[in-house]
Amino acid sequence: MVENTTINNLVLEDLVGYISKNGVQRSIKPVYKTDDFALYNDDSLEVMNRFPDNYFDMIFADPPYMLSNDGFTCQNGRMVSVNKGKWDKSNGFEDDLYFHETWIKECKRVLKPEGTIWISGTYHSIYQCGFLLQKLGFHLLNDITWFKPNASPNLSCRFFTASHETILWARKDKKAKHYFNYEAMKNGRFPEDNIKKPDSQMRSVWSIPTPAPSEKIFGKHPTQKPLALLKRIVLASTKPGDIIFDPFNGSGTTGIASTIIGERKYIGCDLNKDYIDLTIKRYEALKANKGLFE
Ligand SMILES: C[S@@+](CC[C@H](N)C(=O)[O-])C[C@H]1O[C@@H](n2cnc3c(N)ncnc32)[C@H](O)[C@@H]1O
Repeated sequence: MVENTTINNLVLEDLVGYISKNGVQRSIKPVYKTDDFALYNDDSLEVMNRFPDNYFDMIFADPPYMLSNDGFTCQNGRMVSVNKGKWDKSNGFEDDLYFHETWIKECKRVLKPEGTIWISGTYHSIYQCGFLLQKLGFHLLNDITWFKPNASPNLSCRFFTASHETILWARKDKKAKHYFNYEAMKNGRFPEDNIKKPDSQMRSVWSIPTPAPSEKIFGKHPTQKPLALLKRIVLASTKPGDIIFDPFNGSGTTGIASTIIGERKYIGCDLNKDYIDLTIKRYEALKANKGLFE
């Protein structure tokens, strides 16, 4: 672990270098890094272990949903498996709880006292994560309902059509003052959201369609988040110069949104090499063409 006294002077480059030299059990190097963007292709617990205390301003985490139970859903009018990958299989209630507790505890250590964490999920995982945020002493700020106006229909016709995810927003420290860009949320433009009224306070229900095909031109991730969702989160909860971490990077939506907003540094981590490669493609295309995802 990096000594506390050194962390104030660290910039992303130094941190990345330090981690790779400071392997306690083994050295972990970023597979990709620029001045404002670094990616690790590894288990996020192993990677987080090497980060200093109180380092990140904001963490967005979209952990495995544990919903890959061999069932079926409907996509573009076709019946498809709900399975996302081995990483999304539940290991049973207790093991899932232990997994979530381990990474959320580590996130708490690496967050600054005034830093905030966002955790997204469905009912398969979000109640465990919410319980753990409270157990571990976070201060819950909001539970956002991300409503998907274009959600897939329910095939069984035996219960309601799932059309939202919950995103919890919490501060590390009960007493610290967190950052909230109230003005940008109230007065910004959110053309994709037919619930948000111009010049009125941003409420906790956000209507945002699932990612458009234009967001998937470099490849697909089974649980890719829309850029409009992550741009809103980054803008609401970070300032220029802030460092953002996503322990479950996937297709890198958090990093791409940070790069579009600009003046932020991003570190992402994913076990799957294909998803890391997809993120690099998205990032490099965006750098070459700033308006790419507008
Ligand atoms: C729900 S997806 C994240 C999707 C992402 N938000 C996006 O917009 O593309 C979860 C990701 O976590 C990765 N993952 C699962 N367990 C992991 C672990 N222990 N360490 C690092 N990554 C992990 C999976 O490979 C998957 O890409």
